[in-house]
Amino acid sequence: MSEIDDETIAEVRRQMQKRTVTLADGTKVPAIGQGTWRMGDDPKKRKSEIEALRLGVSLGMTLIDTAELYGYGKSEQVVGEAIKGLRDQVFLVTKALPGNGDRKGLAAACEKSLRRLGTDHLDLYLLHWIGSVPIEETIEGMEALKKSGKILRWGVSNFDTSDMENLWSKSNGSHCAVNQVLYHLGSRGIEVDLIPWQREHHMPIMAYCPLAEAGSLKQHLLSDQSVKKIAEAHSITPLQLLLAWSIRNAETDGIIAIPKAGQPGHVLENAKAAGIVLTEEERVVLDKAFPRPQHKVPLDIV
Ligand SMILES: NC(=O)c1ccc[n+]([C@@H]2O[C@H](COP(=O)([O-])OP(=O)(O)OC[C@H]3O[C@@H](n4cnc5c(N)ncnc54)[C@H](OP(=O)(O)O)[C@@H]3O)[C@@H](O)[C@H]2O)c1
Repeated sequence: MSEIDDETIAEVRRQMQKRTVTLADGTKVPAIGQGTWRMGDDPKKRKSEIEALRLGVSLGMTLIDTAELYGYGKSEQVVGEAIKGLRDQVFLVTKALPGNGDRKGLAAACEKSLRRLGTDHLDLYLLHWIGSVPIEETIEGMEALKKSGKILRWGVSNFDTSDMENLWSKSNGSHCAVNQVLYHLGSRGIEVDLIPWQREHHMPIMAYCPLAEAGSLKQHLLSDQSVKKIAEAHSITPLQLLLAWSIRNAETDGIIAIPKAGQPGHVLENAKAAGIVLTEEERVVLDKAFPRPQHKVPLDIV
């Protein structure tokens, strides 16, 4: 894509800085961060992915999410290269596999992730999903990493409300900083109980697949007449609308969306979504087209 001028970068950044989510410890993060699943898989895309991530940081999307699972370390390596010289601007998140969820496993996995990312600490370390390791051991391992300064905070991913309640009941379980789960206009089950529970416990949600990449709903969402009409009214793409919708209550509900974009042009579009505010009327139209479930549904996962 052609060079983006400084004025555009400054304006988008200004909008982004208005959209923040506050963690329980008072740290502010942008309501739109950057996902990295599948980055590093194709060597031909590497240059563009690095450029995209660096542009995202300059636009204020300073939270970057990766995982040891993604390309078995390749995504972390791309992120490591992208944040060279920018580490102090980035809120860096990675995830441990459930099989590494005990004290020894977490220490070893974290060390490897740090090496691939080219840093000496993580801002946030997540348990990717619940495995067979008792959660008490994971909490103990995460707390030990915190004490050693390797991580500043820890959290979980793919935890449903009952999993969060169980976590909360354990010693130091309430130190969990975030829960990362799937959320987009076509998958609203967490609005029934998980978002209210987490709001009550001052724990933000990181919304993955905010552009509905996983599953079969993407085309259905993008071709929906209400989505198209509202996007047109704002002169944005339907994907930008999905993103703007996912952070519509970012500040009150504590929602941080982490779209993945390996192309700088896509990153710019995504960052611009921070400046889109949907009217009450538009929200009602989207609620009608894609209603939230009336009752509890199991957590949607990839
Ligand atoms: N915790 C978990 O279990 C879990 C599970 C899944 C995902 N995640 C995290 O959440 C992140 C986001 O989820 P996701 O990657 O599955 O899906 P997503 O963010 O919903 O969608 C990513 C796809 O959308 C495309 N895209 C991005 N911006 C676009 C734009 N402006 N216009 C057109 N296309 C655009 C990307 O293409 P290009 O790359 O070509 O730009 C990519 O194909 C992941 O990368 C990962 O960090 C976590």
